[in-house]
Formats: sequence, structure tokens, C-alpha cells
Amino acid sequence: MFTGKFPTVRMRRNRSDEWNRRLVAENRLSVDDLIWPIFIREEVGEPEEIKSMPGQFRVGLDRLVEHVGPAVELGIPAIALFPVVPGDKKDAMGSEAINPDNIICQAAKKLKRAFPEIGLIGDVALDPYTDHGHDGILCNGYVDNDRSVNILAQQALLLAKAGIDIIAPSDMMDGRVAAIRSALDEEEMIHTRIMSYAAKYASGFYGPFREALGSGKSLKNNKKTYQMDSANAEEALREVAMDLEEGADMVMVKPGLPYLDIIQRVKSRFAVPTFAYQVSGEYAMLMSAIRNEWLDPKIVIGESLLAFKRAGCDGILTYFALDIAKQLRNE
Ligand code: PBG
Repeated sequence: MFTGKFPTVRMRRNRSDEWNRRLVAENRLSVDDLIWPIFIREEVGEPEEIKSMPGQFRVGLDRLVEHVGPAVELGIPAIALFPVVPGDKKDAMGSEAINPDNIICQAAKKLKRAFPEIGLIGDVALDPYTDHGHDGILCNGYVDNDRSVNILAQQALLLAKAGIDIIAPSDMMDGRVAAIRSALDEEEMIHTRIMSYAAKYASGFYGPFREALGSGKSLKNNKKTYQMDSANAEEALREVAMDLEEGADMVMVKPGLPYLDIIQRVKSRFAVPTFAYQVSGEYAMLMSAIRNEWLDPKIVIGESLLAFKRAGCDGILTYFALDIAKQLRNE
């Protein structure tokens, strides 16, 4: 037995009671931190569960209000809308992205009318609409930056006019934030915010999302010529600095958990509203272990999200938004 003198400071004292642990807790997850990404399709009828994202659905316009209702009721501040575009509407230019009557514009109008109190985030990128699955326009196999930006700015303007509150460019083209800001300002959409996917990595963790959209099948080469190399961190800081300079109101790091170091550095360097996207692959990993009863959802979902708060996030895009909001309400 150890007979020496114990230290006067005992870290365990502050851990010995539930009330004490609550008193010294440094970070807390709140419903106010949550953004729920949802998938909207053209077919009506029973929502279709996404195989690699159990618990997440492709929802038609007819069921949209019903689907989003619980999020509004739970007080989730914003939702992010993603389209599932049928193959016959996809083409090389992603033309459907600039159809003012496309599924996202229709959804935005419908949701604004039903729930004026919830923030609507609209993704700006061409991948749901192109037959090749890239976020921009291909020229000789290479995604042409400036031609893509031109269309992305038009897409952003359409979304804003349909009622989208936050434009979220996820395409990683150079100069897109500036182009989108000036397109919006020219039409006096000065209150439309921009949340840029500032540091978005060429990640394997987007697999289930691409399955959900059907945008990965024909993606012959990957997105490494525009999304970031996961080896790089300094470069992420430059990306964020540029997007802020071009007029981004909020910045995002994506994926989430594998890039916590980036989130922390972004927040401490720039002190601006910083978001993380806990992406489809992160969700799929946790869900497959949860469905196998290898992990306890009541513990691991909250734990995985609290990591983002510790790293300095103001909010998190997560497919667990509804689950965790319900859990927080019951606590
Ligand atoms: C498209 C886009 C992607 C995601 C959000 N917007 C996929 C990609 O870049 O291929 C991924 C989201 C997720 O995996 O949950 N620009």
C-alpha cells in the first residue's frame, strides 16, 4: 500500500457529485447549436430510407412540412436542404441548378410559408444536378473554375429569391464567395447570409451522401482538384481568410471529427462564427455500431457532438439533430 503523502489537490473532488459536475462543466451542447441536413426528392409518397444512413430519408414535397415539423417544434434553428435529382434531369452543365422551379426552390417556398421561424440553408454546388457528379462544369476532364463560378452565382441568387436565408457554397471553386456576394448585393438581397464551406476536404466520408443523392455512381475521378488534401492544415487557414475577405458571414469545416484540429485553429485564429459538418460517413459509422448495439446512442451521439463545442464550434450540421434535440429536451 502507498503510504506517502497524497497531493492536497484532488481532481476527483469536483467529479464526485452530479451537481458538482454540472457546476464545473466547461461546455454544453444546446438545441441552438444544431443544423439538420435533409434530402428532398421529386417523388411523392412514403419517404424512402437511405440505406447507408439509417434513420434519414428522401422526402417528397408532399411530406416535407410533416417531416420538418418536429425540428421546428424542438427549436432547431436551421435546416440544410439537399436535392435528390432524377437522372433524366441531370446533364453535363447541371442546368437544373438554375431552373427557378427546381425541387429546392419549391421546397424553400413551401417551408418559408409553413415555418417562417426556421432558418433555411441552401447548398450551392452543381453535383446533385450534373450527370458526371462534379460540383462544377467539366472542360476536358477538368472542373473549370470561372465558368463554374458564374453558374454558382446564378444558382445562389435563385435560392435567395426562393426564400433561402443562408447560401452555403460547398463547391470549393476559387472566388465563389465574392461572386455570390456581388450577385446577391446587385439584386439588393443584402440580408442573405453566406456560410462558406471554407475548408472542405476531399474526403472518403461523403460516401453515404453521394449514395443518398445518386451523385457518386458516375463520379469517375475524385474531387481532389478542388477539395482540399487531408494532409494540409495551414492551407485551411488561408482558405478561411480568403472566404472571410470575400464576404462570408460564417465559415465551415468539413468533415467534422477527423478535422477537429482545423476547427480549433480556425476559431482561435479568426474568432468568427465557425461551424462543423458531421458528415454522412461519420453518421453512418456511429449508426452502424448503434444499430448493432455495440455503442450506446444516449452516450455517444452527445459525446461526438460535444467535441465540436470543445473545439470552438458555434454550431454543427448533423444528421443526429433531431435525436439529440429530443434527448436534450428530456434531460
Ligand atoms: C456537395 C456536397 C457534399 C456534401 C455536402 N455537399 C458531397 C461532396 O462534396 O461530394 C457531403 C455531406 C455529407 O457527406 O454528409 N458539394
